Amino acid sequence: MARYTDKVVLITGAASGIGKASAERIASEGGKIVCVDRQQEAVEKVAAGIIANGGEAIAIACDVTDQEAVNATVAKAVDTYGKLNALCNIAGVLRFDHTLELKMEDFDFVMNVNARGPFMMCQAAIPHLLETKGFIVNMSSTAALGAHAWTLAYSASKGALLSMTKCIAVEYMLQGLNCNAICPGGIETPMVEAAAHHIPEGADARLMTKAMLPDGSFAPPSDVASAVAFLACEDANHITGDHLRLDGGLMT
Ligand SMILES: NC(=O)c1ccc[n+]([C@@H]2O[C@H](COP(=O)([O-])OP(=O)(O)OC[C@H]3O[C@@H](n4cnc5c(N)ncnc54)[C@H](O)[C@@H]3O)[C@@H](O)[C@H]2O)c1
Repeated sequence: MARYTDKVVLITGAASGIGKASAERIASEGGKIVCVDRQQEAVEKVAAGIIANGGEAIAIACDVTDQEAVNATVAKAVDTYGKLNALCNIAGVLRFDHTLELKMEDFDFVMNVNARGPFMMCQAAIPHLLETKGFIVNMSSTAALGAHAWTLAYSASKGALLSMTKCIAVEYMLQGLNCNAICPGGIETPMVEAAAHHIPEGADARLMTKAMLPDGSFAPPSDVASAVAFLACEDANHITGDHLRLDGGLMT
């Protein structure tokens, strides 16, 4: 029996990159996927692709910074499938700015999507996850462990997400809920492709090498999806409050 047979998994950021790869990977292992993203057309396409391949999925358009929409999304997931076994908070945004030029609205935007959004998702989902002794996987970043230039808001948001992961793990450990984070390095996704074109003016490119493997390579999103699939089910039963660094050895 596939390890996700009869498991319901809600994945945010499922329209693209790591979220899409994770949705497809877990669906291929028998999971019923609630694909969530603010990009309605794209997320519907991902769910349709899963169904076309013989899997089960629904798509929900939701901005994770909108608490009403977040609560309605979790309610719809549970109404549709009767339970929730795992929440994967993968939606996120990246911006590069010189620290001295970072606007408050941009700081708030990044913090809202990357930290406040996953928090609201966890608040809505935890009551259901306690019923199934479920799993939470939060997509943090190597930016939370070390630092990359010009990413003050992003690094702060991913650090906050890592701390939240540990709080949730400790608070609910006796009730059978697992909560872990993944900290990827450079992964080849639309986010990274877009960011590469928005390096701040006058930035010294030598500082970028700190965020890249010596050969300049990026890993495919499927390499992160396999880690998500590991941490969002019973294979990770005795792992909680931890993070998995997934960077090809960059920070070793
Ligand atoms: N790509 C990398 O190198 C890398 C490295 C470390 C961590 N991460 C993290 O992995 C996650 C996925 O990133 P990706 O590289 O796959 O990027 P991506 O841009 O391909 O995917 C991000 C998805 O999140 C969705 N999203 C953004 N804001 C949202 C919101 N407010 N509500 C709902 N959905 C929203 C986008 O529509 C998109 O589909 C992010 O949290 C990112 O910070 C990525």
